[in-house]
Amino acid sequence: MNIRRIRVEDSKEFRELRLRALAADPDAFASSYESEASRPMDTWETWAALSSDGPDQTMYLAEVDGELVALAGAFRLEDNPRRMHLISMWVDPAHRRSGIGRALTNTVVAWARQSDADDVMLWVVDDNDGARRLYEDAGFVATGNSMPLPSNPGLIEHELVQSLNQHLRMPDGYVDLEPLKAGERRAFIEWIVADRTARAMDAEGRSLVDASQRVRSRVSELIDAPPGTSHHFFALTAGMDRETRGWMWMIDRRRDGARIMRIEEIVVFEDFRGVGLAAAAVDAAILHTESVGITTIEASVPIANSTARRIAESCGFVEIERSESEVSVQLDVIAGAH
Ligand SMILES: CC(C)(COP(=O)(O)OP(=O)(O)OC[C@H]1O[C@@H](n2cnc3c(N)ncnc32)[C@H](O)[C@@H]1OP(=O)(O)O)[C@@H](O)C(=O)NCCC(=O)NCCS
Repeated sequence: MNIRRIRVEDSKEFRELRLRALAADPDAFASSYESEASRPMDTWETWAALSSDGPDQTMYLAEVDGELVALAGAFRLEDNPRRMHLISMWVDPAHRRSGIGRALTNTVVAWARQSDADDVMLWVVDDNDGARRLYEDAGFVATGNSMPLPSNPGLIEHELVQSLNQHLRMPDGYVDLEPLKAGERRAFIEWIVADRTARAMDAEGRSLVDASQRVRSRVSELIDAPPGTSHHFFALTAGMDRETRGWMWMIDRRRDGARIMRIEEIVVFEDFRGVGLAAAAVDAAILHTESVGITTIEASVPIANSTARRIAESCGFVEIERSESEVSVQLDVIAGAH
């Protein structure tokens, strides 16, 4: 499956796909098949062109074996420009329950985030339990607003919204990544060992000696990882003084033949917390990952650390796995990059 943004050349197939959606699932949409089927071809070209680029309107198409099988779009609300409206979500019945709807939702939300929206809203019809579950799993919540479905006023649709947590970012915030010098790198590794030791003592009830030995050997294993793995240790610098305000460790490694970037650790020094540096550091990590030609970036976040989880979400990461103590999150750098 491949998800990509629409192009003007897709107009004809886009029209066919959209009309198939309206014919197959009329009660899922506010527009009717009749009204859209009668629109002249140039309105589809305009729709595709306006959605193909820029931060105000989008349409994503999903392809399987070269065939278009799903779509979802969004646009910026005229009366509330900080808010995007997710529309037109449809997956061909033959391809349902294989994660395409989820991937499209995540892609549209990532686009909205990069387009500097505060939140994304949508309408879902009363008995459309599958779609509702999909959206709620992706982080949407009901606002309590509802109205009759315009194309079939006998049905009620409900408004759902997802906040993008943009407030966790600095308004004009960014950090630069400066490669760490050897001495700082040693200090960073010692900090990691101490921090993880304290966590292992708390969470697993281990003694100091036992916890620190285990943590130290796990960190050494990571550092002496197999050939093809490289480590990127950075100082996070920000502000006019370019002072170091934290550290970041990223690991570039191979998995199943593909290169994956992992954010192994981010620390923001205590005096600089609470101003969005961690989110800015994750943004910088994403750009760095893109710049070295890697398309997937991942991280693990302790379940107990809800701030770190919200920051990861606010940067577009989505959960892929969870254990008792950690959530693994991932971002497809290409899908998000629009
Ligand atoms: C809703 C729709 C877009 C879902 O697409 P999809 O590709 O099948 O969704 P996914 O495979 O990504 O499903 C993701 C999760 O959503 C939930 N979900 C999706 N369809 C579901 C269904 N029919 N019943 C229950 N849960 C469902 C599940 O939690 C699912 O995870 P799981 O498969 O691991 O259990 C698709 O069914 C569709 O096109 N429906 C008709 C049009 C429509 O209703 N559009 C939404 C308008 S608001």
